Amino acid sequence: MSSRIMFPEGFLWAVGTAAYQVEGAADADGKGLSIWDTFSHLPGTVFHDDNGDIACDQYHCIAADVELMVELGFPAYRFSVSWPRVQPDGSGRVNEVGLDYYRRLVDLLSARSIEAMVTLYHWDLPQALQDRGGWVNRDTAYRFAEYARIVASALGDRVTLWTTLNEPWVSAFEGHAKGRLAPGIRDLGASVRAAHHLLLGHGLAARVVADVAGASSRVGISLNLAPVSPATGRAEDVAAATRFDAHLNRWFLDPVLRGSYPEELLDESLLLAGGDFLREGDLATIRAEIDFLGANYYEPRRVVAAPAGERSGGASVPQGGLAYDRWLGVVDVRREDLARTSKGWVIYPAGLTELLLRIREDYGDVPIYVTENGAAFADYVDPAGRVKDPERVEFLRDHFAAAHAAIVQGVDVRGYSVWSLLDNYEWADGYSQRFGIVFVDYRTQERIPKTSAYWLKDVIAANGFDTD
Ligand code: FCB
Repeated sequence: MSSRIMFPEGFLWAVGTAAYQVEGAADADGKGLSIWDTFSHLPGTVFHDDNGDIACDQYHCIAADVELMVELGFPAYRFSVSWPRVQPDGSGRVNEVGLDYYRRLVDLLSARSIEAMVTLYHWDLPQALQDRGGWVNRDTAYRFAEYARIVASALGDRVTLWTTLNEPWVSAFEGHAKGRLAPGIRDLGASVRAAHHLLLGHGLAARVVADVAGASSRVGISLNLAPVSPATGRAEDVAAATRFDAHLNRWFLDPVLRGSYPEELLDESLLLAGGDFLREGDLATIRAEIDFLGANYYEPRRVVAAPAGERSGGASVPQGGLAYDRWLGVVDVRREDLARTSKGWVIYPAGLTELLLRIREDYGDVPIYVTENGAAFADYVDPAGRVKDPERVEFLRDHFAAAHAAIVQGVDVRGYSVWSLLDNYEWADGYSQRFGIVFVDYRTQERIPKTSAYWLKDVIAANGFDTD
């Protein structure tokens, strides 16, 4: 039986991208190098050795891309600012031409009544700062606040929604422990320090934005969050799930919303990272007043404990350091009974309801935006020139319904940003994963809205949809 799902009045529908994934123009107009420019050019780090030098060339196609959003009826655009475009050396000198690009983008959006949701950091740290230790160096948090002041001063009168960081867990642990993403470091202690300095940077920058941007501005942070469950009822697997949840979700939610780190990981983290990274007053800084929490949700996590010989428990640190997997002692086991996206992520919309309910239950009534959700599929242009993506329509419909179920149960979800506007550079997967609601032909930069884009247009216009 079909029923109609309606979202609350004023619910903000958005679509997102990130600078390095779409802009291209890697060295245009005085832009400095970022850690992604460096990393993506190291042979063997990225699928197919793809890089973001050109990507979707949004830097040059921005006017057309804004018109595309107008055609598709989007009320808001979530994009990130490239720090090295604004500060090529990561500190000091401002590259006004680079900043002008974002002034122009915000002007184009406001002329078309599209709200700008600005992410200050979506992983592209200036290489010049990496050369001084990057996020492992505490000073980077203060440089981030300086950069936030520059951007908030330039755009603050027209941008109301700000997020400081996108997915600091990924920056810290994929970037510094697993080494799968830039800057490609494999050092557990460094990753714990990086996580802390990212959070410190968030706290500092959130205050700056609140001070500098207009009175109606609202600031938050986007975290990659997921419900975590044990694959079996065995006590050690249940403990592994609790441990993984503390690492993935609570290591970021607790300091931001409560001003503390999860007790059960704190001692060993201090040990791993050498102890002195956590200074007095840091946690109060990190717990800056935020106006909303951004939740990025893609898939749930299901885990078991690693075999006893392959986990250290974190109680001691052998000489030469400890590998991430061994430290965590947790193994991911994806459910086999669920359909997957082309990236291999399982499709589990109910996980979004669980996640949103859990945030409210554990952290109270914080306003939430789903700042990312979406899926990659093997999309192609058919002989008639169309791109049909029924799987994505189904994916989005079921996830919207899941968010709606949380709203009905009282969770204050204010908006939803679909990932992504365009097929784009999917980090270590290069151009192999198409997440867009608009197909991009990378040879010609032609944009072809997929079926899902037209479906979304109707959802936005109606602020809801029929479930059948
Ligand atoms: C998230 C990232 C985003 C995109 C999606 C698929 O982790 O924030 O840039 O890569 O995954």
